[in-house]
Amino acid sequence: MGLGPADWQGKPIIAILNTWSEFNPCHLHFKIVAENVKRGILQAGGLPLEIPVLSVSETFMKPSPMLYRNLLAMETEEVLRSQPADGAVLLGACDKTTPGLIMGGISSRLPFIFVPGGPMQKGNWRGTTLGSGSDAWKYWAERRAGNLTDEEWSEIEDGIARSNGHCMTMGTASTMTAIAETLGLTLPGASSIPANDMAHFRMAAESGRQIVENVWNDLRPANFLTEDSFTNAIVADMAIGGSTNAIVHLIAMAGRAGFSLPLSKFDEVSRYTPRLADLRPAGRFLMEDFYFAGGLPALLAQLTDILHGDTNTVTGKTLAENIGSAQIFNKEVIRTRENALSQEGGTAVLRGNLAPRGAVIKHAAMEPRFLKHTGPAVVFRDYEELAAKLDDDALNVTADSVLVLQNAGPVGGPGMPEWGMLPIPKRLLQAGVRDMLRISDARMSGTSYGACVLHVAPESAVGGPLAFVKDGDLITLDVAERKLTLEVSDEELNARKAAWKPAPTEFTRGYLSLFLREVTQADEGCDLRFLGSSGETPEPKIH
Ligand code: FES
Repeated sequence: MGLGPADWQGKPIIAILNTWSEFNPCHLHFKIVAENVKRGILQAGGLPLEIPVLSVSETFMKPSPMLYRNLLAMETEEVLRSQPADGAVLLGACDKTTPGLIMGGISSRLPFIFVPGGPMQKGNWRGTTLGSGSDAWKYWAERRAGNLTDEEWSEIEDGIARSNGHCMTMGTASTMTAIAETLGLTLPGASSIPANDMAHFRMAAESGRQIVENVWNDLRPANFLTEDSFTNAIVADMAIGGSTNAIVHLIAMAGRAGFSLPLSKFDEVSRYTPRLADLRPAGRFLMEDFYFAGGLPALLAQLTDILHGDTNTVTGKTLAENIGSAQIFNKEVIRTRENALSQEGGTAVLRGNLAPRGAVIKHAAMEPRFLKHTGPAVVFRDYEELAAKLDDDALNVTADSVLVLQNAGPVGGPGMPEWGMLPIPKRLLQAGVRDMLRISDARMSGTSYGACVLHVAPESAVGGPLAFVKDGDLITLDVAERKLTLEVSDEELNARKAAWKPAPTEFTRGYLSLFLREVTQADEGCDLRFLGSSGETPEPKIH
């Protein structure tokens, strides 16, 4: 039972958890979105009450907003547990807000609907289409190579964010909202609607009407999510060429629903899922194109034979019923099965003596010459050392070198910052090099690209093999074989391990010390599990 009266004059109380903040440009329109959700709740006979919660902003939170995903999950769960709400609408968009809100929503066990904030309109610079993040990295490299003036760079900054909404590439925000939709936590088609489109306001109001019905029907995600729901989410992630961050978030969300997703599951699904969405950074188009091409329902309609169509959703219908007969309206943007971009998904899971518990690579978004590559390591102990030495003329680096970044994992970062797309040394940029093999225990932005091996587990800060790599060691990547190998004898590796000592932490109080005490490795989803496994949960009292 909950803690107090949960209905007002016979109306269900619906909490709208709003992650609006002036520090979060991706959520600046959320006050208007919330008004539309309220309109729907009132129309259906509910009482909407808006509650501000932590706005985890990719743009401004340092060293990594990933540190605070779990804080948002805890806040979501506790806000819903401690107050007399019958159901909830969760407003999220920027990368970590979607998994954070959903993790807490599942743990609260209340009926809830997720309302995705929607992607921005396409960017533009002198007639060239710009995509969030991806083109920032691309043109930043050109600027470092000396190919762009200050004025041109300023124009690009102005042109890349033209409207409300989250990053409009298939970065982490678009990936996670697509995953939320595939899990059945949004209305059908919701994740593809651009933030500024009037259809977005209609979807927000419809979500408000739906949650009231779901409270009366006792339709709770914690009850209807199954292992198959999460397998479907991985299929969608692979078919859209989604962000590598989806792996750590999906594992954590599944954990809240009581399921464990091993890394091997992602590789298994990747091998039988065709890549159908031609979206940046792995492809050519942007989310606005995807929406007009039919959006996620049209893509999922191509995959019905490998999806579990009988999973339940917030509409009270199955995923297959929600997809219906959705059509593709632009077969360049969303490919048919016969014309797939590739016959397997965009992400691969690697193992080997350098990553005994796994690592990931988005091989769909890199130069193919790195699919099989051996090169000498150039090692940076942390990001500070990288920033200091990268452009030093004394750095012994060539286009075939393997850049290695240590101490950027869950504990080392802390919080696995998105440093995994290590910058290419200026000298090589000027010589025309635009991709190199890079290896770290960090994550990378979903908008990033290149031959970047990420999430190496166990991480270097806890004594994983990445900590023992030295300058000049040969490293081999073989994506077809899913292997990542440090070409050093076991004897030598054991000797280096015996000499290794962990660095003392500077975080001794507050949430960061709690995070460091409880965080797990990337293969387990970086989840503060003890904080999400609630004992008693609030019950809707309207019944
Ligand atoms: Fe918020 Fe990219 S910065 S979604």
